[in-house]
Amino acid sequence: MMYMRVAIIYYSKTGRTRAVAMRIKKKLEESGVVVDTYELRLDREYSRRLLHFNPRLIYDTLSSRAVEFGGIRGFNPGAYDVVVIGSPIWFGTVAPAIKTFIRKFKGKIRKPVACFTTANIRSDYSLKFKRVMESMGYRVFLHETITDPDADNELISRFAEGVLMALKAAEKSVLSQTTPYSQRDQRPSQHTNQE
Ligand SMILES: Cc1cc2nc3c(=O)[nH]c(=O)nc-3n(C[C@H](O)[C@H](O)[C@H](O)COP(=O)(O)O)c2cc1C
Repeated sequence: MMYMRVAIIYYSKTGRTRAVAMRIKKKLEESGVVVDTYELRLDREYSRRLLHFNPRLIYDTLSSRAVEFGGIRGFNPGAYDVVVIGSPIWFGTVAPAIKTFIRKFKGKIRKPVACFTTANIRSDYSLKFKRVMESMGYRVFLHETITDPDADNELISRFAEGVLMALKAAEKSVLSQTTPYSQRDQRPSQHTNQE
């Protein structure tokens, strides 16, 4: 797993998604993966009080309009082998910053993507998120919904394992592509085989 790199991009308002992101980071780093985290921050953050009743939050979430955010300075999608994207669920959907992010990077993140959502109830939120991303062209190979970072430690471990497996597959394909020419020449070509 040396030299394999993962970016974890997430938004977190009350800290749960951040806690999950940090656990995934730790587990990947324990296997020697280099992990960079990017926490999206809105230029105009929502006031922490009475989040459920914040008109701007509700409007941004339900209208899916683009919001201004920072936190991705230096993020170069091509520099990573896998990209992990995490979001809280608000009113059944991912947070506005994440919606804006995936629109902004549509067609630009070509590496395999693993996504997770955090929510109060266990539902198929992450599957919906995966499908939305797939409809935009992202290659999503893993999804998970976490309700409690502590109680769901097992789920988080499995998620990290899934990312490690994808990294191993990527590593293998890179190695096979970098076989020295001398060895390649010794392999019979497909054309020769058919003769
Ligand atoms: C405005 C708002 C709407 C929410 N809507 C849902 C929801 O539809 N379903 C759900 O299970 N949890 C919902 N939640 C709970 C959050 O998804 C949950 O607390 C999440 O883990 C928070 O992540 P964060 O701490 O990273 O901000 C909502 C929370 C807020 C503030």
